[in-house]
Amino acid sequence: MSFDLVLFGGTGDLAWRKLLPALAQAHRHGSLPQGGRIIGVARDDLTDAQYRALIRSRFEGVEGDKQPTGEEFERFAPLLHYQRMDLTQPDDYQQLKSRLAERNADVVVMYLATAPQLFTTACEQLGAAGLATPQTRVVLEKPLGHDLQSNRAINAAVRRVFGEEQIFRIDHYLGKPSVQNLLALRFGNALFEPWWRRETIASIEITIAEQLGVEARGAFYDGTGALRDMVQNHALQLLCAIAMEPPINAHADAIRDEKLKVLRSLNAWTQASLAQDVVRGQYAAGSLAGQRVRGYREEDGVAQSSHTETFVALRAQIANWRWAGVPFYIRTGKRLAAHEAHIAIHLRPTPHAIYPTPLVCGANRLVIHLQPRDGLALHLFAAASETRGARALAEAPGLTPVQLDLDFEQRFGAERVGAYERLLLDVIAGRLNLFVRADEQEAAWRWVEPIMQSWQEQDARGEGPRPYAAGTWGPGAASALVARDGNTWIEEC
Ligand code: BG6
Repeated sequence: MSFDLVLFGGTGDLAWRKLLPALAQAHRHGSLPQGGRIIGVARDDLTDAQYRALIRSRFEGVEGDKQPTGEEFERFAPLLHYQRMDLTQPDDYQQLKSRLAERNADVVVMYLATAPQLFTTACEQLGAAGLATPQTRVVLEKPLGHDLQSNRAINAAVRRVFGEEQIFRIDHYLGKPSVQNLLALRFGNALFEPWWRRETIASIEITIAEQLGVEARGAFYDGTGALRDMVQNHALQLLCAIAMEPPINAHADAIRDEKLKVLRSLNAWTQASLAQDVVRGQYAAGSLAGQRVRGYREEDGVAQSSHTETFVALRAQIANWRWAGVPFYIRTGKRLAAHEAHIAIHLRPTPHAIYPTPLVCGANRLVIHLQPRDGLALHLFAAASETRGARALAEAPGLTPVQLDLDFEQRFGAERVGAYERLLLDVIAGRLNLFVRADEQEAAWRWVEPIMQSWQEQDARGEGPRPYAAGTWGPGAASALVARDGNTWIEEC
């Protein structure tokens, strides 16, 4: 199968940090179909050779092991081509059309790694130029809109040109091996399903903590914030993977139907729950790994009086038979104490204690580690029979915490398919399972909108986000949020 992958935003950050390295990895592993072309598109006037040289220099300028350099890059470089385009100019689409007609590939992927304001124009122009053929697939990077209304407008515009089966809305968290393993754990094993419910599970925590600040994206981030950047998409997709009912099969729509049901069952916000169950924070100066780091408002591109949140913690509820009454805590933020993403499933204590009662944190829990390590840890109790000496006589035998660990990297090797690599291969193969449907996105926006509105009202009253020192776990109110239910975040256990 031949393919042309047209990468709009071909010189942008996402292209050279994530997408091109992922394609190079796939090429190195032999998983990319032979004879494909990657056509970078941007406004600069470059030849193919200049584009290759530019990408090579970008790769060499970053620290990291994913960017190919040297001989590896030389093997990948022939796939790279370049097309100058101004996305608002119809003539430029005609030139792209001639370029694509040179090969008439079986699959043409239009990857829009551009500012979302350009999605509508680009799709309309692709349609008008006759570039939306049955062979074409369009990939849309997040954020898809700024709120429900803008999301709907983009989706409507894209769907006037492409069928839903041609639209690949990316949420790169769905491509992470650990997220696929979460589904495999739940639906490939009979062990978990009987207790995966309110009767056994007391609460669920989803944490996506970053040590990074806003880097060079201050201006973009200041108009976005953590709720739109992380909660509306990544965190809610993780919540769906945990909470969804078993799908009837592994086809894209069967999975997406179940995720949609979860999103539609999320609690309706009230004035009271918005006030009690949502914490927004913003990092102030602090220290991370022994280095002094500046506060968010001092970052380049950020307004000095900005009220944009860099941290969100919230308590969600799912109103259905499986989950009624089980709090789902979501927490995400930048400049936190650790780079760490996990899902912690806290089980209820035993119904009757014959051993001295363990602490709340001492109840069984299953922790799914998403990053930096990728694995599972099941926290159990064993008999503390190893105690010797005077204590063995004095104390009744108790319990001691033990841990069953599964490290996926160790088990499957470090050379596993990365998130973007997985997703790009799926686009080329036409597999939609790991992509988000329009109705899912809308349901997620509908749920976060009342939070955005309540923050606007707070802003109008002069109440901004709660400050937290960089290098900590966020505002103290986030701990208080879970403590109200007698719980703690897992690093406090
Ligand atoms: C992106 C956000 O979607 O995800 C970034 O825009 C964030 O702000 C990133 O840093 C986190 O992704 P990962 O895979 O590094 O956890």
